[in-house]
Amino acid sequence: FLSNHCDHSTIPTCSLLCQVNTPTKTFGLGKGRAADLKYIEACARRIAQVATGYKIVVEKSTVPVRAAESIQRIFSANTKSDLSFQVLSNPEFLAEGTAISDLKNPDRVLIGGDETPEGQRAIETLSSIYMRWVPQTRIITTNTWSSELSKLAANAFLAQRISSINSISALCEVTGADVEEVAHAIGTDQRIGNRFLKASVAGFGGSCFQKDVLNLVYLCEALNLPEVARYWQQVIEINEYQRRRFAARVVSCLFNTVTDKKIALLGFAFKKDTGDTRESSSIYISKYLMDEGAHLHIYDPKVKKEQILQDLSPSTASAENPKQGLSLVSIASDPYEACDNAHAIVICTEWDIFKELDYERIYQAMLKPAFIFDGRRILDSLHGRLQQLGFQVETIGKRISQRLPFTARTIAQLDLQAPPLKKLKL
Ligand code: UDX
Repeated sequence: FLSNHCDHSTIPTCSLLCQVNTPTKTFGLGKGRAADLKYIEACARRIAQVATGYKIVVEKSTVPVRAAESIQRIFSANTKSDLSFQVLSNPEFLAEGTAISDLKNPDRVLIGGDETPEGQRAIETLSSIYMRWVPQTRIITTNTWSSELSKLAANAFLAQRISSINSISALCEVTGADVEEVAHAIGTDQRIGNRFLKASVAGFGGSCFQKDVLNLVYLCEALNLPEVARYWQQVIEINEYQRRRFAARVVSCLFNTVTDKKIALLGFAFKKDTGDTRESSSIYISKYLMDEGAHLHIYDPKVKKEQILQDLSPSTASAENPKQGLSLVSIASDPYEACDNAHAIVICTEWDIFKELDYERIYQAMLKPAFIFDGRRILDSLHGRLQQLGFQVETIGKRISQRLPFTARTIAQLDLQAPPLKKLKL
């Protein structure tokens, strides 16, 4: 927003905050990994064009380290006699679905600026705005580059935790351990903490984690730090592995074929309480199953039909199988319709309403054997009851149906290096 008045008596009468998208580049150098800064640049040029007097420009978008320098250079090159700027980095840590409470009660506010007296004064000015509702002890001030890097690093660390627990979930499924129990056991260690240890089929989705980790990898490569780049790249690879692994499990449980089978996919948003589908794992899992010829009947309480169809449209479908189109996709208006006559239910998003469905009614209306894949571990307390009803229950990070007897010999035979899918070309 513009014209954010502040009280600071000495210098600025007006601060200017710009918040613009920084998508991953889709072409050219760094395609698929580097951040596309064209909107940031356009915004900086526009500010230089229209601003007068003294301005503090606050960079809230997640940007590659030293983006503030580019902004400053655009200002310096377009300077007018009545104009001067300070650029601050003040990354946004809000999460979707909890944005207002995150804003009101942040873990911390991070402000980075120039280490010059002018830079420090600009930091004080912005801090004074936050101090209206955030305790001073939670306002961290750093140099600009630390602030920019901290945002990328925070998202990378969160994504890394999810990949770590998801990698353990794969091990749980073949050993008989339960990833929820393991997460609880390790999370009670205060040094580790219990948040962001939820394993799921989904891995991490959303507009930030994948983009920011890829951006970090690209940055490391560009700065000639290949070992560091490979380390973070692995976080992405485990995320992709988790999705492939789950899709493969659905196929293998359904007697190695899902061709022409009806599968009810419950949940399409990247997490509950949002209608956002960006980088949603449901998209990847849907496409894997569509590549195998499954008919998907998708229900999500928030995501619009048009959005689902757009996300699964052939233009973004697998290049290996361009003919697979939307004929394989139906959008259901309620979960019961999605499950009617289905061979299997796949829960992809942890919506609370999926815990409260009438599973007896659903079971009666499904083809037998009726499979339910609890990809988000939301039905844990119901697994026993679902089995009593007759469901074949499969979940992430826990072996429920006895398929592979566990012995020391079987674990020795497991080829944990092998790609998870031999049959599916994912
Ligand atoms: C994230 C960061 O949390 C936030 O600080 C940043 O500003 C933007 O990116 P957001 O993408 O809204 O926020 O969602 P978040 O709640 O972090 O979840 C991201 C993904 O990770 C979701 O797909 C979620 O389902 C998944 N996740 C999260 C897990 O798989 N396990 C967990 O334990 C936590």
